[in-house]
Amino acid sequence: MTLLKLDIYAIRNILKESFIPSQTINFFYGENGSGKSAIIEAIFILGRAKSFRSTSIKSVINISEKQLVVCAQTQQPNGILMHLGVQLDSKNICCHVNHQATQKRSDLAYALPLQIIHPKSFELLDAGSQLRREYLDWGVFNDDECFLANWRHFKRALLQRNALLKSKSITHIDVWNKELVYYGTIVNHYRELYLQKLKPVFLDILAHFIEIDEIELKLLSGWDISKDFGTILVENIDYDLRYGFTHNGPHRGDFQLWVNNRLAKDFVSRGQLKLLVISLKLAQMQLLKNTRNIIGCFLIDDFSAELDVVNRAKLLNYLSKMDCQVFITATEQSDFGDLKQIINYKMFHVEHGNIKQV
Ligand SMILES: Nc1ncnc2c1ncn2[C@@H]1O[C@H](COP(=O)(O)OP(=O)(O)O)[C@@H](O)[C@H]1O
Ligand SMILES: [Mg+2]
Repeated sequence: MTLLKLDIYAIRNILKESFIPSQTINFFYGENGSGKSAIIEAIFILGRAKSFRSTSIKSVINISEKQLVVCAQTQQPNGILMHLGVQLDSKNICCHVNHQATQKRSDLAYALPLQIIHPKSFELLDAGSQLRREYLDWGVFNDDECFLANWRHFKRALLQRNALLKSKSITHIDVWNKELVYYGTIVNHYRELYLQKLKPVFLDILAHFIEIDEIELKLLSGWDISKDFGTILVENIDYDLRYGFTHNGPHRGDFQLWVNNRLAKDFVSRGQLKLLVISLKLAQMQLLKNTRNIIGCFLIDDFSAELDVVNRAKLLNYLSKMDCQVFITATEQSDFGDLKQIINYKMFHVEHGNIKQV
């Protein structure tokens, strides 16, 4: 998928802007507060129907407007053109695929697979497990379209079981235990297979940036896998009842990155941690291209805050060879470094929410 034309309405200080991006790399530079992150945010919203930096969509909508809109003309790898749109106000979301309204965020996500690097991305390996589960499930979701239905069945069983636990009426909990075990095992299996596929791609990309001899990616299932998942649910029923929710299962799943037999976040430098995260995100995009011939969109906000000069050059070099569309921001044009090797890129200047190609 490639964005051919992008229209942005009422996102932060951008009131109404349209531009035709390059199908390779797009650079945006401008002073602090000019609206560069707002552009990245707009593209992110088009693919995920949420912001990457604010939990409340209200703060994203321009203060003098009631709703924001992002639309794009896209081209799928088979050449088919597709129109995507998302309209959000502080309560409702409306997604459009080829001018057909849909309530499903997943329709947008399939149509516009994207990954983002921004100044807080290192939290992927540093913060709680939620981000890593989202990362993992994004990968599985794009790798195999059957995953989503199984994940939804699992989620439903979990909600039902938790409702029974909360109301302390567990006479029929067995029914939901069975569902939870059935779909939970499937979800876990998908994640396991995905990590196995991802690992070699990740190691290959990481080798472009740093030399680390021993790396291990380990899946944590969310329960003690030396025991049967069903048995664990039965054994922990008192504990689950006391707190009113299910403590074991893939909703508690996670993955760990080990470097030289130590957890990466406790061992590597902050700079190396960023490179590990960037490589993990690039690996998901690369795997999507390798296995399904899907071209994704790679967003990088605040390029110079993320990496030193040498690694910025290495990353640009990798991105220019990888088949994907890229959007990168920085305050100075010179932050992007030497662009001689990059073919067909476009440079945009951003000022007071206006975007002009230079
Ligand atoms: N809801 C909003 N309505 C109008 N302006 C906003 C809103 N939220 C943020 N802004 C302003 O939009 C400008 C652009 O923000 P941002 O995209 O983060 O800038 P940059 O990334 O270029 O530093 C800032 O000056 C900010 O104060
Ligand atoms: Mg910014």
